[in-house]
Amino acid sequence: KAGLPEYSLKDVEKHKGNGSRIWVTYKHGVYDITEFIDLHPGGEKIKLAAGGSLEPFWHLYAAHKKPEVYEILETYRIGNFKDAGKVALKDASDPYRFDPDRHPALKRNTEKPFNAESPPELLVDNFITPSSLFFVRNHLPVPEVDMKKYRLVIEVQGKKPISLSLQDLKKKYKKHTITATLQCAGNRRKEMSSQRPVKGLSWTFTAISNAEWSGVLLVDVLKAAGVSLDDPKNCHVQFEGLDKDESNNPYGASVPIEIAMNPFREVLLAYEMNGEDIPTDHGYPVRVICPGIAGARNVKWLSKIVVSPDESPSFWQQRDYKSFSPSIDWDTADFSKSPALQDFPITSAICVPSAGQKIDGEDGEITLKGYAWSGGGRGIMRVDISADGGKTWQVASLQKPGQRPYQEWSWTLWEVDVPIPEGFKGNMELICKAVDSSHNVQPDSVAGIWNLRGLMNNSWHRINVEVN
Ligand code: HEM
Ligand code: MTE
Repeated sequence: KAGLPEYSLKDVEKHKGNGSRIWVTYKHGVYDITEFIDLHPGGEKIKLAAGGSLEPFWHLYAAHKKPEVYEILETYRIGNFKDAGKVALKDASDPYRFDPDRHPALKRNTEKPFNAESPPELLVDNFITPSSLFFVRNHLPVPEVDMKKYRLVIEVQGKKPISLSLQDLKKKYKKHTITATLQCAGNRRKEMSSQRPVKGLSWTFTAISNAEWSGVLLVDVLKAAGVSLDDPKNCHVQFEGLDKDESNNPYGASVPIEIAMNPFREVLLAYEMNGEDIPTDHGYPVRVICPGIAGARNVKWLSKIVVSPDESPSFWQQRDYKSFSPSIDWDTADFSKSPALQDFPITSAICVPSAGQKIDGEDGEITLKGYAWSGGGRGIMRVDISADGGKTWQVASLQKPGQRPYQEWSWTLWEVDVPIPEGFKGNMELICKAVDSSHNVQPDSVAGIWNLRGLMNNSWHRINVEVN
């Protein structure tokens, strides 16, 4: 638009709210939407775009892509965006130069390597997490993958190695699809470290997401490679990624052969996520999906499978992703004696409202939404909610995945309206806890499960909101 001032990305980024006015961009326009926030039919979520582009959000909520909405937006136009279409040039010596662009709504924890949680208020809106909002846990730079050269190598002792291109994998084996939740074993570490400091990324409660994965069953590939459970040398299936550390060691992990070869465990060599090629951050072209098992074993950018008497020699299998008694510290921890984490315990969390949110007491009730999930294929039987510190409980309604018993790889989303007692004002503690199909329950506090790496925190999820 002629006659309007020009603004750069830097100018726009200064307008995220919190004292400043709220600006957004859309294609070549800059908009001051401060006055529109309270009028937005979609509520507070609009603030996620503050100081940046609307496009990635409207891509998710396509209801915006119509003339009426463009007309509303145009009434808030204050300028032209001079950085539209500008691509940041990547430095050829930067090991992170193959990292992709990411959705601005991801809650960034570290940039290099990239680690980010899903935004809780969008997570519970979608039973299947859109790939762009799926949490990301990278230990190393995203690797360069040359598809002309890409081969998945399978090594079995006493046999000739097998080498498969992506096309071979797709052509030779039957396609199999599952819906499975992936969670980082460090999810909710922040709550654990508020009890006593622990080492690791300070994840809140959304290092967890749910997707539909397609690929081939690992058991089919292993059987074709002549692997048998009867051979006592076949104890573990090791996975290697293409991403390497500064000493050229790849990311790696392993699972016991009893899981890898069990057709009911549905371990996948996945090449599709939510119906498309797996996105770069999530392991293109092939990743392992071990449903029900700690995220760390779900190796991305898979290059090699080794059937072995031993677990993966990788740092992340041997010296990390293991748990200890609360009284063990870094001087007394013996990693060689602690087993590697595999199946997850039961967990759940409140995603909406957010901690510290102000609630209007006159509404008479608060709507709570969240997830519940258990490992090993155990489903969710019940989710209990308390608004009085655990004295009384209300049962939430469940959106279950409808999967077969013992193969419930997907999370359950839940929702409940909790009444606000008449005249109540001030701090209200909200708690959720879930029960799985084996009647496993969550511990009521972190104290008894505290461990020096801050792993597997599945205590009752508690948040405080402010009722006025
Ligand atoms: C719904 C306008 C930004 C999330 C709507 C609707 C309008 C609108 C008119 C009603 C659509 C209908 O039902 O026909 C706008 C304008 C925006 C903006 C003018 C920017 C100035 C955003 C952003 C988000 C968002 C950044 C971030 C997630 C939603 C949601 C709904 C909605 C969740 C409810 C409908 C649905 O679930 O698809 N918005 N919006 N909006 N908006 Fe926005
Ligand atoms: N695979 C490779 N090659 N490199 C990694 O850093 N991180 C692991 C696992 N697989 C990792 C990997 C960890 S700890 C988790 S929690 C999951 O990938 C995260 O998967 P996502 O990034 O697709 O959410």
